[in-house]
Amino acid sequence: MADPNGQAQTEQPAAGPCVPVAPTRRGILASVFGTAFGWGMSALGAATGLWAAATARFLMPNALAEPPRRIKVGPPADYPPGKVETRFQPQHGIWVVHGVYRNRRQIYALRSACTHLGCITIWQENEQRFKCPCHGSGFYADGIHFEGPAPRPLERCAIRLASDGQLEVDISKTFQEELGQWEDPQSFVEV
Ligand code: FES
Repeated sequence: MADPNGQAQTEQPAAGPCVPVAPTRRGILASVFGTAFGWGMSALGAATGLWAAATARFLMPNALAEPPRRIKVGPPADYPPGKVETRFQPQHGIWVVHGVYRNRRQIYALRSACTHLGCITIWQENEQRFKCPCHGSGFYADGIHFEGPAPRPLERCAIRLASDGQLEVDISKTFQEELGQWEDPQSFVEV
């Protein structure tokens, strides 16, 4: 067929009903590999995401799980002479004591960890001593060691009277008697 200018025209197929076309072999392969590739990329993306999350978790400090390092333990009036407060031990690992050290009345915080191998000591009210259940070390209420294999006294934590009138213990800072550190005024509150 020719147009009005005498040019031959290509025959265009007439529009007709939509008839499903049988898939070619190439089409099937492309479809299969395309889907597999997609799944592979999704899996790779998920694995990368998990790895990044795990890395971030490892690198970032575990702030939520850590107990606070400074804790308020009440006003000095809560600590009459001879008092050994045990309620902060389970969570913070300290005994808060109104005791006597070298003839001076003080309130101080002792770490409950035994200085032998680190077991948690137990306060025995009747005996007025801290006793380690692991190998039998004993410590007086002032923390001084008197029996068993522990090589030195219990350690003190920093303590101070805060501006709100409460005693505040900093469990991140410790003081050792055998090094003369119990003379440091940060290691006790004079009463
Ligand atoms: Fe306390 Fe050994 S850990 S005596």
